[in-house]
Amino acid sequence: MISQEMNDKLTLTGPKDPAGKVLRRYWQPAALSDELQVKRPVVPVKLLGEDLVLFRDSDGELGLIDRGCPHRGADLCYGRLEDNGLRCPFHGWHFNRDGQCVEQPGEPEGSRMHENIKTKSYPVVEKNGIIFAYMGPGEPPEFPNFDCFRAPETHVFAFKGLWECNWLQAMEVGIDPAHASFLHRFLQDEDPADSYGKQFRDKAADTDIPMTKLLRDYPRPEISVEETEYGMRLIALRHLDNGKTHVRITNQIFPETISIPMSREMIITQWHVPIDDKHCYWYAMFTSFDKPVNKQLMREQRLKEHRLPDYAPLKSKRNGYGFNPQEQENETYTGMGLDINVHDQWAVESPGPIFDRTKEHLGKTDVAIIKYRRIMRAAIDSLDAGTSDGLPMLNGIDVKTIYGPISNDTIGGRESWRHDFEENDASRRAACAGWDAKV
Ligand code: FES
Ligand SMILES: [Fe+2]
Repeated sequence: MISQEMNDKLTLTGPKDPAGKVLRRYWQPAALSDELQVKRPVVPVKLLGEDLVLFRDSDGELGLIDRGCPHRGADLCYGRLEDNGLRCPFHGWHFNRDGQCVEQPGEPEGSRMHENIKTKSYPVVEKNGIIFAYMGPGEPPEFPNFDCFRAPETHVFAFKGLWECNWLQAMEVGIDPAHASFLHRFLQDEDPADSYGKQFRDKAADTDIPMTKLLRDYPRPEISVEETEYGMRLIALRHLDNGKTHVRITNQIFPETISIPMSREMIITQWHVPIDDKHCYWYAMFTSFDKPVNKQLMREQRLKEHRLPDYAPLKSKRNGYGFNPQEQENETYTGMGLDINVHDQWAVESPGPIFDRTKEHLGKTDVAIIKYRRIMRAAIDSLDAGTSDGLPMLNGIDVKTIYGPISNDTIGGRESWRHDFEENDASRRAACAGWDAKV
């Protein structure tokens, strides 16, 4: 458990909050490209507590500016998308994608007042289905060579979903390898042939054992954490009765991202992005090493579970997450259906909007959570001391040298598992025909 003061320090994300300052040093997912695939590409974005509006101008370029008009505060989400910018419907002030006011049609002829009006704006970049914003000081950092950014657009599918809780508790579920044996337990195994686009439904590594069975039968993983240049690598070992060892490699990419295997074909890179301190979006990039991603199927699967335009899950605390006691008895550990996102959503929302960590009791399986908080505290201290030395990937390292990270499920020898998972991952990457996945 930690003090209330430390809990605030780690969770709050306003521009003056310690963790908020750290998060602002990194690119943040602001919207899906899908959201701008409409006739009038203007959408509200709330990010780290700031109300913004994202639009695509007639040059096809993106702008992310303050949502309130700097004249008298009217909502620019209702702006007129014209003249290569956004025009406030109240008095016609016109803003370009950098937030510069370029026209005030109601002011006297020849007025140059607009030259001094520049509203808040943030740099944005579109990458494989996600529009990223940089809200920090100075020049934005470069993107590392992670698989999700290196793979061509055909091999990456992006989606998001709303969770009604603080970003940190959302992220902490992703660095907790033990929960998969319980929270996501299926009491019956589905035919892995129907597993496309779903997590934990494939066969384990190169065996015929369904992942669901393996997780169920071996609920006490041996978990270790290695610090890396991007954050942490988590290794969860499950020693099987046949003398082999199941190895699951996942990653924490600082500050709020995880990278995990989904199936042998795909990995998931998932950000947990604060909307404000009590709400967050998960943004995921599903990257395929094999064939191009079947985006239509992936999108259909997920749109069945979410409503637009806010990507709120249809199951929520308002309908008890679809809890069915009969199902809990016979089919799933949670009784909340087969979609594991709902399980995670319940796990992260039910502790309350900002979990009171003065009441927690962390065990051995929470080792990565403990380590993560240490890294975040060091990052906070570093910024307080006026340096970014303590910020992973911003500490002077050339981020273009960072590849992967390896996210994989393998079954290897009890002694040789480390060599075996590396070899298994290398062969998957070598076989990738659609893009250069070698690390
Ligand atoms: S409030 Fe926007 S132009 Fe007046
Ligand atoms: Fe989970």
